[in-house]
Amino acid sequence: MSSPRSIIIDTDPGQDDAVAIMLALGHAEALDVIGITAVAGNVGLPLTAKNSLKLLELAGRTDIPVYAGASAPLMVPLETAEYVHGETGLNGWTFPEPTTALRPEFGPDFIVEAVMSRPPKSVTLCPLGPLTNIALAMAKEPRIADRIDKIVLMGGAQIEGGNVTPTAEFNIYVDPHAAARVFNSGAEIVVMSLDVTHQALIKRAWLNELAGLGTKCSEAFVGLLSFYERYDEEKYGSDGGPLHDPTTIAWLLKPELFKGKFVNVEIETTPGLCFGQTVVDRWSVTKRPKNATWITHVDADGFFDLILDAFRRLG
Ligand code: RIB
Ligand code: CA
Repeated sequence: MSSPRSIIIDTDPGQDDAVAIMLALGHAEALDVIGITAVAGNVGLPLTAKNSLKLLELAGRTDIPVYAGASAPLMVPLETAEYVHGETGLNGWTFPEPTTALRPEFGPDFIVEAVMSRPPKSVTLCPLGPLTNIALAMAKEPRIADRIDKIVLMGGAQIEGGNVTPTAEFNIYVDPHAAARVFNSGAEIVVMSLDVTHQALIKRAWLNELAGLGTKCSEAFVGLLSFYERYDEEKYGSDGGPLHDPTTIAWLLKPELFKGKFVNVEIETTPGLCFGQTVVDRWSVTKRPKNATWITHVDADGFFDLILDAFRRLG
């Protein structure tokens, strides 16, 4: 039995971020969450940081440190998504005010310290929001790009088109300058874009199975996801919202559920129609160096089974 993989989850909870965190915690035999860094995205940083604390308290994992990171993108004003996640970022369930405190260190500083103090290739980064913290950590210590095992991130879109503009997905759109630095850092990157997360749509039958577990975690998440899926119902019809962020954790747990292709991905940072677009050279029509594995398919049933199993284990 190999030792669990050390991961840092960089996040802007967000109901789908919350599921990703629970998926990781529910598979502690495989994944050791050594820290959570909060970033401004779905809602402002004070809330994403507080929401991270709330989720760890719900899961009984207050041993995991939480660090506040960037409160704004590198070069553009912050744009948030209360219209999707609600004004708290975790609408659909009322959490008690957290009693645990944030760690004092700045999130990017924690990422640098965690990566540089551990053996090479022993830490994996799982960014679930805008890439501001990752870019800041790389600017502070460029050596982490080569020292981390890999970055498994949720962001971008090509075939599916954008969800915040016709060409841009939210996480990349909010901070495209950070995304450009990360994609050009030389780090090994696996990308869960809308091209794959739009195959992971919440089904009412699955939500009923989750409710049937009858645990405190499952009850909270039925509330969270029932709120979350309302926004997407008009987009996806009878199916519910796409569970974007947990695809990153699921790939670490069961990569066989996914298919992808190693390609070149560039980020459009010029203001205008395509601002924040992930430009994917799927057929290598340019000579730009390949820099990311772009995931295009998921076994949705296997994915949702993995999440349900995690909630069974969390109790
Ligand atoms: O576009 C989907 C992404 O934006 C997800 O990470 C969701 O949580 C929001 O941050
Ligand atoms: Ca997110």
